[in-house]
Amino acid sequence: MGSPTLSTVVPSLVLLILFFVSSFLITVSSEPNEEADTLLKWKASLQSRNQSRLPSWTKATTNVSSKISPCAWYGISCNDAGRVINISLRNTGLSGTLHGFSFSSFPRLAYLDLTGSGLFGTIPPEVGLLSHLKFLFIDTNKLDGSIPPEVGQLSSMEVFFLCSNYLNGSVPPSLGNLSHISLLFIYDNLFSGFIPSDIGNSKSIFNLDLSSNQFSGPIPLFFGNLSNLKSLYLYGNSLSSPILSSLGKFKSLIDLQLNENQFTGYIPRSFGNLTSLSTLRLSKNELFGSIPDEIGKMRSLSVLDLNENQFKGVLPPSISNLTNLKELALLYNHLSGSIPPSLGNLILRELLLSGNHFAGYLPYNICQGGALEIFTVSENHFQGTIPTSVRNCTSLIRVHLNGNNLTGNISEALAIYPNLTFIDLSRNNFYGEISSNWGKCPKLDTLNVSMNNITGGIPREIGNSSQLQALDLSLNHIVGEIPKELGKLNSLTKLILRGNQRAVTLSFINKVCSSLEA
Ligand SMILES: *[C@@H]1O[C@H](CO)[C@@H](O)[C@H](O)[C@H]1NC(C)=O
Ligand SMILES: *[C@@H]1O[C@H](CO)[C@@H](O)[C@H](O)[C@H]1NC(C)=O
Ligand SMILES: *[C@@H]1O[C@H](CO)[C@@H](O)[C@H](O)[C@H]1NC(C)=O
Ligand SMILES: *[C@@H]1O[C@H](CO)[C@@H](O)[C@H](O)[C@H]1NC(C)=O
Ligand SMILES: *[C@@H]1O[C@H](CO)[C@@H](O)[C@H](O)[C@H]1NC(C)=O
Ligand SMILES: *[C@@H]1O[C@H](CO)[C@@H](O)[C@H](O)[C@H]1NC(C)=O
Ligand SMILES: *[C@@H]1O[C@H](CO)[C@@H](O)[C@H](O)[C@H]1NC(C)=O
Ligand SMILES: *[C@@H]1O[C@H](CO)[C@@H](O)[C@H](O)[C@H]1NC(C)=O
Ligand SMILES: *[C@@H]1O[C@H](CO)[C@@H](O)[C@H](O)[C@H]1NC(C)=O
Ligand SMILES: *[C@@H]1O[C@H](CO)[C@@H](O)[C@H](O)[C@H]1NC(C)=O
Ligand SMILES: *[C@@H]1O[C@H](CO)[C@@H](O)[C@H](O)[C@H]1NC(C)=O
Ligand SMILES: *[C@@H]1O[C@H](CO)[C@@H](O)[C@H](O)[C@H]1NC(C)=O
Repeated sequence: MGSPTLSTVVPSLVLLILFFVSSFLITVSSEPNEEADTLLKWKASLQSRNQSRLPSWTKATTNVSSKISPCAWYGISCNDAGRVINISLRNTGLSGTLHGFSFSSFPRLAYLDLTGSGLFGTIPPEVGLLSHLKFLFIDTNKLDGSIPPEVGQLSSMEVFFLCSNYLNGSVPPSLGNLSHISLLFIYDNLFSGFIPSDIGNSKSIFNLDLSSNQFSGPIPLFFGNLSNLKSLYLYGNSLSSPILSSLGKFKSLIDLQLNENQFTGYIPRSFGNLTSLSTLRLSKNELFGSIPDEIGKMRSLSVLDLNENQFKGVLPPSISNLTNLKELALLYNHLSGSIPPSLGNLILRELLLSGNHFAGYLPYNICQGGALEIFTVSENHFQGTIPTSVRNCTSLIRVHLNGNNLTGNISEALAIYPNLTFIDLSRNNFYGEISSNWGKCPKLDTLNVSMNNITGGIPREIGNSSQLQALDLSLNHIVGEIPKELGKLNSLTKLILRGNQRAVTLSFINKVCSSLEA
């Protein structure tokens, strides 16, 4: 092209060349473009009732002499050679299956994004023909059936999302051949059977999410090989057996969520080596034994969730070394002993200790960091007073102190909390009067002080709690009239007063009466 000799040749030769060039162009324009044809056939197969889907996908072309090219179509990008490399039809409501899609026509395709595009039916085995595919997003559809083993042939694949479908059966071991995969998300499907140990061959994987399926059996031993793993989500399955102590080798792990399974045995001591781990969720399993002292070495830990297991013994003092800890969740175990006072040095947002056998005093400086939002220590044997730091703890949202042996004057121990929605102080030995401060907690919906030694009357300011739904003052020594301001509270649906002095009288009658226990 553009050869300098052109200007020197006779005009007839120029004409001849022009003839050849133009006839070449004409030839090209009538040559079928396989990729365009394939896409148009697939479009025709889609059952979308909306005929205006993908309007740019058409044979019409504005340039009479140029060939039909899909490269300018919606969601399509091509390489310099005009071959399709990227199909992105995220959330397009295609309403069709993958079976009309001729995978063999796209040998250069690197990126296929059909997230949330209304796909149903099974995944065709031909998907394995996309030999250059690096990114495959077919999540958030209604795909069913199982993963064809041919997926293992996608040897360039780096990111694979097939989460949130109705896929079932077992996961094919061939996925272990995806040697460049870094993100594998298959959560929220109906997969069952064992997790294939071959997944462990994928050394590059750093985020593996198999949660919310029906996998059973142990964590396969493969994990020793996933040395780049940062996140491992296996929660919401039926996995059993002890937790592999070799997981402690993954010093790069940041997020480990094994909750809601049937794991048994101890927390491996090797976990002390997981110094990068920020989130550890082991709740709702059948783990037992004591919480190992090594837990204090996991210095990046921010969330420690051990709720609803069979742990016993004391809380290791080393836990106070976890200076990044924000959420300590130990609900419903068999833990005992007292809380290390140094726990109060942590700037916790959630302290969840309910349903254990803890005793002794609550750390006096528990809200010293001013971050505590959820303070849940009910159904234990705590004694003494509410820690003084709680009075100024304006961050509080939910407080459960019920079912302990706590004492002290509640109106002195507690103050005004702008975000407090729920507080249960029932079944303790609190005394003092109901404070008018409760009327200054604008979000309060539940106040329960039943079964204490509360005296005095009900302050009329309580009627300012515009969100108050449940007020339980039963089994105390409260006297006087129920202020009529309370009767004007539209939100109030539960008012329980039984077991107080006979002097408590109803000064109002309104719609709450049906649920009123006086
Ligand atoms: C059909 O799809 C087009 C483009 O996505 C949209 O603007 C139109 O509202 C849809 N019509 C119906 C009936 O869904
Ligand atoms: C038509 O051809 C011209 C020149 O080759 C090109 O610049 C233009 O982008 C083409 N238009 C379409 C719609 O393909
Ligand atoms: C493919 O196209 C989509 C949408 O234009 C874009 O977000 C994505 O980055 C592209 N992928 C690649 C690998 O070029
Ligand atoms: C998977 O689901 C299909 C229907 O979608 C069903 O026919 C098949 O039996 C299921 N297989 C397993 C292993 O559950
Ligand atoms: C993985 O690939 C190798 C070589 O390509 C092949 O021999 C093997 O069968 C594959 N493994 C699986 C589980 O598909
Ligand atoms: C994975 O680890 C196991 C034991 O730790 C080892 O036998 C196996 O060869 C490793 N596989 C690969 C692919 O490195
Ligand atoms: C922690 O790792 C070191 C070496 O990295 C190893 O010697 C030690 O046994 C590991 N500790 C535990 C408890 O697994
Ligand atoms: C807390 O960490 C320090 C320094 O690493 C260590 O000396 C101390 O023994 C740890 N405390 C507990 C209770 O484990
Ligand atoms: C509460 O805060 C006030 C003012 O910030 C301070 O003077 C008081 O000592 C604090 N009380 C407690 C118990 O921390
Ligand atoms: C109350 O909640 C709001 C909204 O979440 C937050 O911005 C504010 O800081 C909270 N107040 C206190 C005292 O923590
Ligand atoms: C409550 O504490 C008091 C005094 O601290 C003690 O005498 C009593 O036995 C405790 N009751 C319970 C149920 O623990
Ligand atoms: C209740 O409090 C009063 C004083 O307010 C006290 O005399 C009484 O002993 C307390 N009763 C109980 C059961 O703690």
